[in-house]
Amino acid sequence: MRKPFFAGNWKMHKTIEEAVTLVQELQAALEGIVGCDVAVCPPFPALAAVREALVGSAVGLGAQNMHWEEQGAFTGAVSPLILVGLCDYVIIGHSERRTLFGETDEMVNKKLLAALTHGLKPILCVGENLQQNQAGETEQFVGGQIRAAFEGITAEQTLLITVAYEPIWAIGTGVPATGEGANSIIGGTVRGTLVALYGDSVAQAIRIQYGGSVKPGNAAEFMAQPEIDGALVGGASLRAADFAEIVRNGLACTGHHFSG
Ligand code: PGA
Repeated sequence: MRKPFFAGNWKMHKTIEEAVTLVQELQAALEGIVGCDVAVCPPFPALAAVREALVGSAVGLGAQNMHWEEQGAFTGAVSPLILVGLCDYVIIGHSERRTLFGETDEMVNKKLLAALTHGLKPILCVGENLQQNQAGETEQFVGGQIRAAFEGITAEQTLLITVAYEPIWAIGTGVPATGEGANSIIGGTVRGTLVALYGDSVAQAIRIQYGGSVKPGNAAEFMAQPEIDGALVGGASLRAADFAEIVRNGLACTGHHFSG
């Protein structure tokens, strides 16, 4: 049984001061909610201050990206060595990194391996674009992304990884996938590929989130699906009340998940 996991991807939003305020509001809004993991992923400059604000809190902290090298002449980049001790999670291979910043499957794989080497827990993003979706190429494309990302990763290391299936056409568009549609790709393609790579018992232990226009009003639809273990939330994670409501509404429908 997999413990539900809700993560907020703040993208390029919030100053340091605003980030601290948001995480304080979020902690208050999440009061009394148990049985799941929650994390926020602010911009790099806010990580230290948000970490400070989260001392003693159950809310986890993640970065939105990372270079795979430990150090060196990589202007503007942040390494796993810099992130260790600062945060627990790191988003790897978000579609915005892939499409706007030219990240390839090979780079995503290097980042995943580097995060695992340093004990950071990766949230690996995969997902097809609208054209691929309409051409019926989703399974093949997403399966390929999973195979490439997990190259060289041991069965034991997979336990640290969360996969986020985020169809690009659903991100920031207000047009989410359907619960059933997302469940089918997450179960059949994402977990299906992991079963092929690692066997059933390993694959069944890996958490897989849905992401793309998740809102308080549709969180339950996704979380009621047997293969969906949580959500990666962009826009709606910028408002504490909305993100907390996503967690609350989502958890109300997760009878099939572990909640201890
Ligand atoms: P969204 O973004 O919730 O704003 O659609 C999700 C994501 O990009 O992780």
